[in-house]
Amino acid sequence: MLHGAQLVLQSLFPNAPKKPSWFSGFLPQPRELHGVKITKIEGEIPRALNGTFYRNGPGAFGEVSHVFDADGMVARFHFDDGAITFSNRFVQTSQRLEEEAAGARLYRGFGSPLPGGVPGNAIAGIDETANTSVLPFGDKLLAMAENGRPYALDPETLETIGEHDFNGTLGPHTFFSAHPKVLADGTAYNFGMAYGPLPAVNLWRIDPSGSLEKLPRLPLRHNTMMHDFAATKNHVVVLEHPYRAGIGGILKMFAGQDTLANALAWHGDDPMTVHVMDKSGAVKRFETPPDFIGHTVNAFEDKDGNVCVDYLGYKDDAPYRMLQSVLDAPPTLAMENTLTRLVISRSGVEKKKLARMDAEFPQINPRYAGRDYQFLYAVKSETGAWSSSRLVKTDVKSGQTSSHDFGAGHFPGEPIFVPKPDAVSEDDGWLLSVVYDATTHGSYVAVLDAAHLSLLAKAHLPIHLPVGFHGAFRA
Ligand SMILES: [Fe+2]
Repeated sequence: MLHGAQLVLQSLFPNAPKKPSWFSGFLPQPRELHGVKITKIEGEIPRALNGTFYRNGPGAFGEVSHVFDADGMVARFHFDDGAITFSNRFVQTSQRLEEEAAGARLYRGFGSPLPGGVPGNAIAGIDETANTSVLPFGDKLLAMAENGRPYALDPETLETIGEHDFNGTLGPHTFFSAHPKVLADGTAYNFGMAYGPLPAVNLWRIDPSGSLEKLPRLPLRHNTMMHDFAATKNHVVVLEHPYRAGIGGILKMFAGQDTLANALAWHGDDPMTVHVMDKSGAVKRFETPPDFIGHTVNAFEDKDGNVCVDYLGYKDDAPYRMLQSVLDAPPTLAMENTLTRLVISRSGVEKKKLARMDAEFPQINPRYAGRDYQFLYAVKSETGAWSSSRLVKTDVKSGQTSSHDFGAGHFPGEPIFVPKPDAVSEDDGWLLSVVYDATTHGSYVAVLDAAHLSLLAKAHLPIHLPVGFHGAFRA
């Protein structure tokens, strides 16, 4: 007999072949809850864990054909002395409001064309989904995707305030990536793609008070798609892997003839260009054999002054091809990657493979962002599935890995590290992860001890949360 979730699933995705159980994690969640106290808790929430965990992700699967293209829904978990309250709200982007008023999709996505072929798509703007990550920032919470400016939300009510342009510094439709780097001193950096005949990356520095300063624009070799970058105290590093659209593909996209997702291709015979900008704005460029990079992990300057950049490197664009088709059919592509370190000196780049990972959504103790570090936490990947039931912890220095398995049918999301108030070591903290439980079509927040990767508590939500992307914690 079909589970209720599976019936809804088949009605939403009627052309899909039989779906595995994890696929019900892509069912949309139309309900918004506000300040609901979580009463079903297994184990014990540590009373010293106080603050707010935010997570962003697509909340409205069903009308789009690419996993990146559904509107963002932010979930909020407020921890207070062992209790948790939960809220979730859609980000009310201007495009979402327009589409709701029209009762139809009006904007096209990264990989989701509008119905109606070329005429319909040529005049349609790009959907700004604000669905990828969150950044608690001053008295606001920013919701971000890389396809537009960030949206500011009220950090308590999650109500949308509007597009955030940093006092007019970010012009309309500026791409502001979903992966800003907040260093230990509170200074943040971000980048954004500028596609077109003269491809480039815009770079910004944001001081702890929230004022944004433009750094010199970085010209690229190609219209490369990059999802992440790296920053240290004195350097910004852009890793231009050979994953790009030709100018013909970009023009076809603007003309409505194709999606950006389809215009992108992997050119594995070409090198990766490593762009390193120092504090003066001077740029050095190096070439190294390519890796496909989704997420960086951390970056820092070592004692010899070398810039070290760690990332999860794939041999090709298999992960993006997997994401492109995951809503249509269970993926068959492997998510195989390696924790890789570039050591960038004055004279060149040395590449070191630190550990085989086969994992995604890498996170570290945020107090070690931009500094030498030891521990990395991530979601273990699984060949032929959206992800696995395991979170992993890797000792970057030894390559040793341990894991926690939530059990069959449970799919943990990105593990956010929260340092204990009296932390004495790098891994002295908790991990927070939103877990989708396909066996009940429910979701819970898991609290783990980061030192031992042991499960401390599960707080079950009254509704399921669809598969999500990135989160953040504010003490
Ligand atoms: Fe990401």
